[in-house]
Amino acid sequence: MRRQISDAASSLVSSRLSFAAAIVHLCCCARPSGDRDVLLGLGALGASATLMTARRAGADPIATPDISTCGPADLPPGANVLTCCPPPSNALPVDFAPPGAASSPLRTRPAAHSVTADYVAKFNAGIAAMKALPADDPRSFAAQASVHCAYCDGSYSPEGFPGVELQVHNSWLFFPFHRCYLYFFERILGSLIGDPSFAIPFWNWDAPDGMRMPAMYTDRSSQLFDPRRDGRHAPPKLIDLDYSGREPRFTDNQQIDHNLRVMYRQMVSLSPTPSLFFGSAYRAGDEPNQGPGPVENIPHGPVHIWCGDPNQPGREDMGNFYSSGNDPLFYAHHANIDRMWSVWKGLDARRHTDLNDPDWLGASFLFYDETPKLVRIRVRDVLDTGALRYRYQDVPLQWRAARPTVTAAATRRADSLLTPAAQAADAKKAGKLPITLEEAASVAVKRPVAGRRSKAEKASREEVLVIDGIEVDRDVAAKFDVFVNAEDHAAVGSGGRELAGSFVNVPHRHGHGHGKKGRGIKTTLRLALNEQLEDLKAEGDESVEVILVPRQGKGKVKVGGVRIELMH
Ligand code: C2O
Repeated sequence: MRRQISDAASSLVSSRLSFAAAIVHLCCCARPSGDRDVLLGLGALGASATLMTARRAGADPIATPDISTCGPADLPPGANVLTCCPPPSNALPVDFAPPGAASSPLRTRPAAHSVTADYVAKFNAGIAAMKALPADDPRSFAAQASVHCAYCDGSYSPEGFPGVELQVHNSWLFFPFHRCYLYFFERILGSLIGDPSFAIPFWNWDAPDGMRMPAMYTDRSSQLFDPRRDGRHAPPKLIDLDYSGREPRFTDNQQIDHNLRVMYRQMVSLSPTPSLFFGSAYRAGDEPNQGPGPVENIPHGPVHIWCGDPNQPGREDMGNFYSSGNDPLFYAHHANIDRMWSVWKGLDARRHTDLNDPDWLGASFLFYDETPKLVRIRVRDVLDTGALRYRYQDVPLQWRAARPTVTAAATRRADSLLTPAAQAADAKKAGKLPITLEEAASVAVKRPVAGRRSKAEKASREEVLVIDGIEVDRDVAAKFDVFVNAEDHAAVGSGGRELAGSFVNVPHRHGHGHGKKGRGIKTTLRLALNEQLEDLKAEGDESVEVILVPRQGKGKVKVGGVRIELMH
C-alpha cells in the first residue's frame, strides 16, 4: 500500500549527500547580500561601486520587465501560437494612477451562474469586439491571451537580471499579478462596448450552485465557448476542486461536500497567516518558483487541469499556462481566485492582512490599458479593490462551516505511537530522502516543539510542514497529496482531516534563454499544521508520520526533504 522510506545501508551516504545539497540550496536562497549587489551592479544600475554596496536587504522587488526584450517563449510541440510577446510600444510606460470615484463607476463582478440574459449578451459583445481587433492591437483578445503566456512561459527576465526567468506563478506574485491582469482586461472590454461600469463575472466554484461550468461558457454559438475543453466536464458535471486527472466516483452531494471541505482546508486551515496565504517570497535575482500558496495549489491548479482538453498534446487551452488565456473561462476562473484574496481578508480582520514586505509591495508589472498605453503597476497599487473601483457580488460562503473531520478508521491510534527508540530509527529513515514518488511513501518527522503548546503560542507561531526540494518537469501535470498520521490513507474519507494538503503543477514552459537549469522546476510546499494537529489529537506527540501519495505524474516528482518548522 505504501512504502516506508527504508533504512537501507546506503541511507547514511545518501543522507550526507542530501545534507550537502541542502546546504547548497540554503545558500542560494539566502544569497549573501554581496551576491545581490554584484547581480544588481551588472544590471540596471551599472557598475558603480557606491551603488553596489549601498544595497539594503529587503529592497529588491521584482522589477518590471522591459517588453522590448521579450524573447520567444518555450512552447510545447504542437502549440498553436508562435509568440507570446505583446505588441511593442514606442512610448515609455507611465506609472499607474488609481482612477478615482468621479471618473470611474464602481463595478460589481457578478457570480457567473446568476447573471441575466442581457448581461450575457453584453459580455459576448465585449469578447467579440476584442476578438475582432487585429492581433497587433494590444487590446485584442489574442494580445491579451498572450500576456499570460509571456509572464508564465519564460519570455521575460526581470529588469537587471538577464538570463533569469521571470515567473508570476509559484510565489507571492500569484495573487497580485493576476489581479492586475484582470483589471486591465476588464477596462479594455468595458471601453470596447462603451460601458465603463461593465464588470467581468466570477466562476463561483466554491459554492454549490456555482460548481458547474457556467452555462454562458458552454453555449457553442457563444463567443465564450472554447472547443478545447474536456468534453466529459460539460454541465451538468460538477467540478472536482481536488481533481487529480481521474474522475472521482462521487454522487453530486458527495462531490459538493468534498469541494466545501477542500475550500475550508485551503482557505482556513492552510491559510492562517499572510506569509502562508500569499506564498513564498520571490525577490529580484531569485530563481522563480520559490513556493506557491495553498490557493494557488488548490483549487487553482486542479480547475485549470479539469477544464483543459485531454485530447490536446498539452491539455490546451486551460490545462497549460501558455494557452489558458485563450479560453474566456480563464478570466472567470481567475476572477474567483481574485475574489478569494478579498474573501480571505474578510475572514479575520486582525490576522488576515496583506503582506508588508517592501519587496512584495514594490514588485511591478507592465500592462496596456484601454487607450492603449503602456502602464507600470505595482503590487501596492492593487491591495484595495475599492480603489480600483470594483467589488464582488456578495454570495454565501458555505465552506466556512465545512471543517474537515477525522476518519476514525484511518487515524493512527495513540497506542500505536512510536517509542523514542522507534522515533530515532524513523528519524534516520528520513535521511533516505530525496525520493522519487513512484508510490506512497511515509516518513516520521520530529516536531520542533515537545508537547502541547498554549493557545497564545499557537496564535503567535504556526507549526508548518515544509516539503522542499520538490522537483518536477514543467511539462508534467503533477499532483501529490500529503497525509499526516493516517494509518491507512486509502481509507481517509472525502475531504478528511488526515489530508494535510497537496502540491499541484500546471504544465508550463520556460524561455529559451533560461534553460541553463534544465527543464525542471524546484519548489517548496508549506502546509500549516496547527488546526490539523488539534483535530487529530496529535499535539502531545513528539513526531508525526507524513505520507506522500502521488496522484498524477507518478514517478515524475522528486521530494528533497520533509521537516516541521515554526513560522510567524
Ligand atoms: Cu496564471 Cu491560472 O494561471
